[in-house]
Amino acid sequence: MMKNTDNKLLQKALDYAKKTFENDFGGHDFFHTLRVYNMANTIAEKEGADLEIVGLSALLHDVDDRKLSPKTCANKDNARGFLKSNGVGNETIETICKIIGEIAYAGTDSVVPSTIEGKCVQDADRIDAIGAIGIGRAFAYGGSHNRYMHNPDIAPKLNMTAEEYHKSNSTTINHFYEKLFNLKDMMNTESAKIIAESRERYMKDFVDIFLQEWDGAR
Ligand code: ADP
Ligand code: NI
Repeated sequence: MMKNTDNKLLQKALDYAKKTFENDFGGHDFFHTLRVYNMANTIAEKEGADLEIVGLSALLHDVDDRKLSPKTCANKDNARGFLKSNGVGNETIETICKIIGEIAYAGTDSVVPSTIEGKCVQDADRIDAIGAIGIGRAFAYGGSHNRYMHNPDIAPKLNMTAEEYHKSNSTTINHFYEKLFNLKDMMNTESAKIIAESRERYMKDFVDIFLQEWDGAR
């Protein structure tokens, strides 16, 4: 269910995202975008951020993703094209494209978004990478990229730069140490920090038990 369904432009952006991600089964399916949209809205209401900017940025945040759409990533051609063809003004388009460019996780090169709207969307995207949903997405991503779930011979690499992080093809369990366990302390807003606390606890318990079972625990 989408929040603010009476806004026609947001509804169109939702349909556009639905079409873009209809064949993705690697952790970036349309429901990821829908969850980020709803979570960003919830955070934005508490933070007093502009709901249309937050909503459009959330719905379009992955349509020019560097892995999914490497050719359009730099200029955000897909997001730009959608917004332009729906009559959105240039200034708003720039605001939204800037947010989309700032939110991605990039290891030690990750940036804090320059606007409160960007902070809300980045927090929502990161919340969707942790907790039970985050665990599910990580294994979906790993499976679709031919990665080991776990391989004790491959150690996690901490504190990677953007370049190292983008090149990494580590195991899914290592991904928890390389990215997912870092996210709680990177949340921008107070509302996201509270949500991240319990999601991280659940994720840490999961990895602990996973490793115990790996070692033969019953
Ligand atoms: P986002 O949509 O949050 O920007 P990404 O594009 O980085 O996320 O990745 C999509 C999902 O796949 C996320 O939940 C992320 O944590 C997970 N993921 C990314 N890289 C890996 C990896 N190397 N191993 C396992 N899961 C991964
Ligand atoms: Ni995302």
